[in-house]
Amino acid sequence: SLCYLKMDGVLYPPMPGYSSHLKRVQDFPCRKDDVWIFGYPKSGNHWLWEMVNMVLKNKPEFEKDIMERFLVDFEDLQSPDLTRDSQRVLVSHLPLQHAPRGVFQKEGVKVIYVLRNPKDAVVSAYNHLASVTDDFRRLSFSDFLGLFMDGNVYYGDWYEHVTSWYLRSQGNRNILIVKYEDMKRDLLKEVTRVAAFFKKPLDLDTAESIAHACTFTRMKSCKRECNEKWREDGLIHSVYRKGQVGDWRNWFSPEEDEEFNRRHKERMACCADLTIDFVLNE
Ligand code: A3P
Repeated sequence: SLCYLKMDGVLYPPMPGYSSHLKRVQDFPCRKDDVWIFGYPKSGNHWLWEMVNMVLKNKPEFEKDIMERFLVDFEDLQSPDLTRDSQRVLVSHLPLQHAPRGVFQKEGVKVIYVLRNPKDAVVSAYNHLASVTDDFRRLSFSDFLGLFMDGNVYYGDWYEHVTSWYLRSQGNRNILIVKYEDMKRDLLKEVTRVAAFFKKPLDLDTAESIAHACTFTRMKSCKRECNEKWREDGLIHSVYRKGQVGDWRNWFSPEEDEEFNRRHKERMACCADLTIDFVLNE
């Protein structure tokens, strides 16, 4: 059986000190110029984080740090990184109901929610967890898929996560939804959308060079170069694994796919106007 923490029915990774953190994070003091990226794990959080930073800096320059350092979930709230004066780009996998209240209450705070089709997200999560934890290595993909479909995975049920964030974003000018599949289809367009959301003027040359820097191969090789730690522990290979739409086809059996589609339709009924692409047609 897997180790986990549980808060209000949502499972979280069993990290030391994490359960008190989950309670404290709800009172995290937001600043009026904070930018938050929320997303279910393995949905393209690293990708979007890097792109948003480039848009805000107005140049295609990779962050020197790894995103995990800014993932507030793992941070001591007193960390100097979070108390410095410059604009913060914070990242979190928290479901809506566990997010810091300030995100919604503090005027000016902007949120981007990153959304990826759940078939590729579950494949990506399985590969990631199996590469870092023995517990998960012992599970087959089918076992993991069963846990995922029942919502018994870290950060909770995919459908609850996505539908609650999506519904909250509707009619809210401070929350932008960005889809992984849209970034794969036309990254330049999403770069431009993100800049417009922040009301940042961005000339076409810069937008193009940001889109170019953020392609999978460029990003993987640049991040490998700029971080020592990643070279050591191999994390780079799971954070930048394949970067494709539709890898799920290599993992789901036809029966699993059929069952998944049935449940998917049921669970997405509350968000009928939200389209999720499982296949990228080019
Ligand atoms: P795969 O495991 O399917 O390759 P997160 O950042 O939320 O942990 O998500 C990781 C997933 O995003 C991985 O998916 C990773 O390869 C993919 N990814 C990261 N950077 C990307 C990029 N520049 N282009 C496309 N996919 C990217």
